[in-house]
Amino acid sequence: MREVLSAVDSGRDGFVEQLKELLRIPSISTDPQRAGDVRRAAEWMAAHFASLGLRAQIFDTPRHPLVYAEWLGAPGKPTVLFYGHFDVQPVDPIAEWKSDPFEPEERNGNLYGRGTSDDKGQMFTHVKAVESWFKAAGAPPVNVKFLIEGEEEIGSPNLPAWLEAHRDLLACDVIVISDTAQFGPGLPSVCTGLRGIAAFEVHVTTGSSDLHSGSFGGAVPNAIDVLTRIVAALHTPDGAVDVPGFYDEVQEPSASELASWSALPLTDEQFRKTAGTFGLYGEPGRTTLERIWARPTIEIIGIGGGYQGDGHKGVVPARAFAKFSARLVPCMDPARTIECVRRRVMSLVPDGAEVEFKAGHGTPAVSIPTDSKWVAASARALETGFGRKPVFIREGGSISIVTRFVGQYGIPCLLLGFGQPDDRIHGPNEKLSIADFHSGIRTSAALLAELASA
Ligand code: BES
Ligand code: MN
Ligand code: MN
Repeated sequence: MREVLSAVDSGRDGFVEQLKELLRIPSISTDPQRAGDVRRAAEWMAAHFASLGLRAQIFDTPRHPLVYAEWLGAPGKPTVLFYGHFDVQPVDPIAEWKSDPFEPEERNGNLYGRGTSDDKGQMFTHVKAVESWFKAAGAPPVNVKFLIEGEEEIGSPNLPAWLEAHRDLLACDVIVISDTAQFGPGLPSVCTGLRGIAAFEVHVTTGSSDLHSGSFGGAVPNAIDVLTRIVAALHTPDGAVDVPGFYDEVQEPSASELASWSALPLTDEQFRKTAGTFGLYGEPGRTTLERIWARPTIEIIGIGGGYQGDGHKGVVPARAFAKFSARLVPCMDPARTIECVRRRVMSLVPDGAEVEFKAGHGTPAVSIPTDSKWVAASARALETGFGRKPVFIREGGSISIVTRFVGQYGIPCLLLGFGQPDDRIHGPNEKLSIADFHSGIRTSAALLAELASA
């Protein structure tokens, strides 16, 4: 083990340079124009796995490819499957980036660029850990599989069918995922739960076309006005969701989990600073950590209608839309939640307006039991990697496929995030601490040894 950790340490700078190559590929999965780049990222990954001695394969799906790689040279030993993604989010607003999102740059100990933290950099820690085992010990102490996909950021639409068709490739003892964050700097973390998500859109139409706001305004309905009244009615004035049935299935965290959260070192003021907001706002009677980890939300994530260009254009808009995502917590069913919201929205439609409610992708929340030997092994590995015992946290974000790994296939999952809450994933100036990248590789290398004897 000591030799392997030395190999990780001496490989440090070279690993960062290799990661930069992958980061230069603008693999934005939601943008049809970038489909070729998503494919290039898959090809880069597959070639990289092959160069390490793994058997690697690209699988095409109806949209973006995924990469599967394996090394099964440790018969009788456990098999670990690493899941991650090489697709990334769009980069707008581009003007706010201090350096090119696809020309990674090192600044004061951080590597800046789209995908550094979410998820190319984090995923790559496991690749480099396996490589270090080959280099320093001849081979890893367990069997390893990698499933790295190109559609995570669009909700993994084609992965469930692929998993069903390739159950043999999915066979493993434990799945390890680094696509979340630590609780804070120097606080290695085991994540025990993710929120789920249910997306929907509301489209309002009030007539056949936009009208002159002087000739018609005041005597006809306005689509934006109708829409904003609906949007406003989805919450009470003090910040709770105002949708009948919305909270019915919510499972509250246990008293001991709540107590452990209140012992975590985070003040509301620190949280506000990380967010960069002017204030905090949320459901009354709940702490910040409850609000982001254990309470469901409805968030408006986009709105449009009327004239959006420079200057003024006097129209009564005939059409307006809004996009939403609800975050779900344990025991909520996405389809049932969407149905509650749909009913509420439709009950708010006034005379003279037509509303179309479009349901989008949905995935339930996940909970990871903490009393397993896998979690114990990961806690020891994090201590080796980061030099202190981990804290147990949840995360508010979602990783669609984890629900299926855990719920449908019953495979234990370890969510070992190496990012930080201020990495600005999905935003401008996304970064990953190079020290965290390095400690992540050390953790993964140590984890392989721990799993071999688990
Ligand atoms: N890595 C994130 C999920 C995440 C973010 C976990 C923050 C913990 C903290 C992932 O890439 C992501 O962005 N997921 C989407 C899922 C959606 C596209 C279905 C999300 O959470 O919005
Ligand atoms: Mn991610
Ligand atoms: Mn993401």
